[in-house]
Amino acid sequence: MKNDIQQVTSNAERLLVAERERYLQLHPCSIKLSKLASQHFLYGVPMHWMNDWGTPVPLFVQQAQGVHFTCADGIVYTDFCLGDTGAMFGHSPEPVAKAIAAQASRGFTTMLPSTLAPNVGAALTEQFGLPYWQLATTATDANRFVLRWARAITNRKKLLVFDGCYHGTVDDTEVDVADGKTINRASLLGQVHDLGLHTVAVPFNDLAAVERELATGEFACLLTEPALTNCGMVLPQEGFIKSLRALTSKYGSLLILDETHTISTARGGWAKANKITPDFLVVGKPIAGGLPAAAYGFSDNMATQMKVAKDNAPAGHSGIGTTLSGNMITLAAMHTTLTEVATGAAYSHMLALAGLLEQHLKASIKTYRLPWGITRLGARLELQFCEKSPTNAQQARDAQNDTIESAIHLFLLNRGVLLTPFHNMMLVCPTTSREDLKKLIQTINACLKELTHD
Ligand SMILES: Cc1ncc(COP(=O)(O)O)c(C=O)c1O
Repeated sequence: MKNDIQQVTSNAERLLVAERERYLQLHPCSIKLSKLASQHFLYGVPMHWMNDWGTPVPLFVQQAQGVHFTCADGIVYTDFCLGDTGAMFGHSPEPVAKAIAAQASRGFTTMLPSTLAPNVGAALTEQFGLPYWQLATTATDANRFVLRWARAITNRKKLLVFDGCYHGTVDDTEVDVADGKTINRASLLGQVHDLGLHTVAVPFNDLAAVERELATGEFACLLTEPALTNCGMVLPQEGFIKSLRALTSKYGSLLILDETHTISTARGGWAKANKITPDFLVVGKPIAGGLPAAAYGFSDNMATQMKVAKDNAPAGHSGIGTTLSGNMITLAAMHTTLTEVATGAAYSHMLALAGLLEQHLKASIKTYRLPWGITRLGARLELQFCEKSPTNAQQARDAQNDTIESAIHLFLLNRGVLLTPFHNMMLVCPTTSREDLKKLIQTINACLKELTHD
């Protein structure tokens, strides 16, 4: 018989109290830094959400290298969060560190293309397949810019997304569904526009809902990740993305695939691995080894239409662009990451180890008789509190249990293992070793034992 989740939750509540105390004892330097930083940073952190990890005070990092980092108190952690994909190829990959160091004495930013620009374009095409590219500094911006292009090209206003989507802080996408209506996410600060006016969200894996909306002929584009990765992981059902490709073409809407996280699938991302060619493809986070960088690729046809839209617009601000994007140092880091770090060999290692980790985690779940499951997309895995992988965001939400999740995170963190906050996500990087996996599995087993005792 499976363990009773009410009992597990009440064990988690008790465990959390003890783990919070343990965290405070282990981290006097982080406590001190938190007090100092609070004098000048809101919530004591450079970005307010850095305070949302569930630790009593933030964990301050001294240095990070490969799959490990050291906190202010000198404790070494094995990192399965990897900057929520920003460091998916490991912290400070040596070739990238060298490329940045070499470029550092030769200029950071000029507002002109560096001589490396043609090589970066070629490397993006070699890796992701799309023939043309533009750069941005964050995946948020890349998505925002692609939306502008899509609307300019199609002369349509509406955007179709999926319930549970996250594409960065792109206003148009920060919607939820309530009683079948698309509304502003309740948590948004300072949003004065009714986002439901031009954005519609439908359930993932629901082709009928997608077609019903697209058939109105009002949608400039459909923007989605190939698998939802931000509301808990939700994989596409067989043929779903292929059907999205067919439906968007049928109704004159553009298909934008945001591969910022699904870049974990395989070298070149999910679309390339599954032989789907979107109109636009967005990549960000790890493509310059963790330095802020993003890119969007597009087809020949899009390139032609983008030029028409731009050439026909009056001279002046296009609404697309930021001064520091595509700067010299980012180009150097991106080129080295794409050609020397995100290699076939690196992905082979990541995928093989992630497969092994999946097997071990499933065995742990079985040993401790929990009604839980593992969902995996290449090098990315998620422990979900449901037996079957969810097929849409609502199912993923229904499976969430904040208390158990917080207890697992803090228990692991207090024993030198970091998971991704806000869900139980784990990433495997090129330098993750079998020893690192062993540490994770042993610590998870110890945690599950605490959670399931009578
Ligand atoms: C799928 C996806 N797209 C875009 C973004 C935005 O990335 P950034 O915060 O680097 O702009 C995220 C961030 O988590 C993401 O998960």
